Amino acid sequence: MHQPKEIISNLEYLRKLFIMPDSPDKFIEFGNDLLEMIHDFFQQKGGIHSAITLPELSHLFDQTAVPASPRLIKDVLGEIKGKIVKHSVKVGSPYYIGHMTSAIPYFMILLEMIIAALNQNQVKIESAKASSFVERELVAWLHRLVFNKGDKYYEKNIQNHRVALGNVVSDGTLANLTALLVAREKAFAPDGDFPGLRMAGMARALRHYGYSKAVILVSKRGHYSITKSANLLGLGEDNVISIAVDSNNRIDIKKLRKKIEELQKKNRRGRTKIVSIIGIAGTTETGSVDNLYEMANIARETDTHFHVDACWGGSAILVDEYRHLFKGIEQADSVTIDAHKLLYCPMSMGVVLFQDEKDLRYIRHSSQYVIRRNSVDTGRFTIEGSRPFSCLKPWASLKIIGKEGYGLLFKQAQKSTDNLKMILDNCGNFETLNNPQLFILIYRFIPGVVKKQLMAWKKDRSKDSERKIRKVNNLINGLNIKLHKALRRDDTSFVSRTTMESTTYRPQKIVVLRAVLINPLTNSQILEEIVATQNRIGLKIWKEFKPVFYRLSDSSLQDPEMIVSAPVSA
Ligand SMILES: Cc1ncc(COP(=O)(O)O)c(C=O)c1O
Repeated sequence: MHQPKEIISNLEYLRKLFIMPDSPDKFIEFGNDLLEMIHDFFQQKGGIHSAITLPELSHLFDQTAVPASPRLIKDVLGEIKGKIVKHSVKVGSPYYIGHMTSAIPYFMILLEMIIAALNQNQVKIESAKASSFVERELVAWLHRLVFNKGDKYYEKNIQNHRVALGNVVSDGTLANLTALLVAREKAFAPDGDFPGLRMAGMARALRHYGYSKAVILVSKRGHYSITKSANLLGLGEDNVISIAVDSNNRIDIKKLRKKIEELQKKNRRGRTKIVSIIGIAGTTETGSVDNLYEMANIARETDTHFHVDACWGGSAILVDEYRHLFKGIEQADSVTIDAHKLLYCPMSMGVVLFQDEKDLRYIRHSSQYVIRRNSVDTGRFTIEGSRPFSCLKPWASLKIIGKEGYGLLFKQAQKSTDNLKMILDNCGNFETLNNPQLFILIYRFIPGVVKKQLMAWKKDRSKDSERKIRKVNNLINGLNIKLHKALRRDDTSFVSRTTMESTTYRPQKIVVLRAVLINPLTNSQILEEIVATQNRIGLKIWKEFKPVFYRLSDSSLQDPEMIVSAPVSA
């Protein structure tokens, strides 16, 4: 076995690491090794997650002290290959259809190299010259797609350093946090002697405006980054009010109105400030889009900030066919979109856009050594300090793939979603549980005989039938948890799992499998294979559950296999 070589620390050697070698041979040699390593990783057949166990992995990484002496790059690259690449999750596999993290086009790897090589820091123009302009251009493109304010507006503002159409941030969580920070500042803006919440703090802000608390409203499908934000913004996680959803996992507009009316009534504890109403354009679990048009009207009537979390689905606005889903988004005050989701960029980059180019002034900061007050630095408007040049990835890919290309990718994602639904429905042992709007399908394994029985009980509507439905659903929940674990062990494919209260069995919570179908390399044959595996393993597990089902259901129902295998008497 190759023994890694330790090098005696030597400044001459270390200095050489910081410059391109005179002869590019070394760089090219390592580059080739690296490309081979990446290529091998993509070609590897077999498991999605590698067979290594988590305790085994922890032994691979159990050196408790920082390495003292330097090692050869070649040796460390070898270690990366053997210990890390080998045990990484193949999220780009067409059989991996469980999460929003998926395949990326190969040119993204080259863009990452440029980003690393240039090492621009977007916080200030002194460390990010052309790249600051690239960022503003990208933000303007996305702003225009969402708000479409016309040529003159964008010509005036695209490179206007006095304002900001939005921020490029590290992910969707930071994007939502930034939007809600602005919403909070607007809700408690400077007023006479009151210098604004950011200076005075929450307690004084509430006192000044005569409120006892401040809340955010979002549907039950809201992403957990909203509660995290409420925590960080000092609003409190309990003050994120979840509104029920309809059977399509879209916010229940009537219930939203009712809740607002309730909140606006002054009660014993005082008045409540609604800091923001949040619409979701592509919920994390089901890809559903809220009725943004109605929500925009409600937000206007309520005089509150309307934020749209379009981290998942927002990029679909690129394509005319999907625009109707987002009707009303142009009236939002802020919108968040992730590039590492439907723009097929590698981890990670989010963007937050503000309809009003002056809104980010609410959180503007300056300092003496960078982001000086009258500078042109983008860092004046961001929560984050140092930021990488990540915007190069969507900027370049919007050129390389183009609106038309993204249109084709979304069409393929739609086709895969429809195909999977059809294959599951045709199989007979599955139940699909949502009408996918943006490439996410939820479903569960449920043997045909059970499905039929549930339907019969549903028609019957008696109390006894309702009780039986609940019991059998609990049983099938257990079956799907077990199936999901078995599929993880099988590891030839991957779907995720969640629990929903918004299916046809509402309000009972149903365990569902969740497929996210955005990998353009996933085809119908692969989907057939995935369903066949789930059906095979599901039926095997069903054997354990079957006797309980027949016991639970009814004495008149008999296990057909028991009838067949019963001894024939007389
Ligand atoms: C709707 C929605 N909002 C926000 C986020 C948070 O994004 P990130 O994981 O990039 O922080 C997600 C992530 O899945 C999401 O689906």
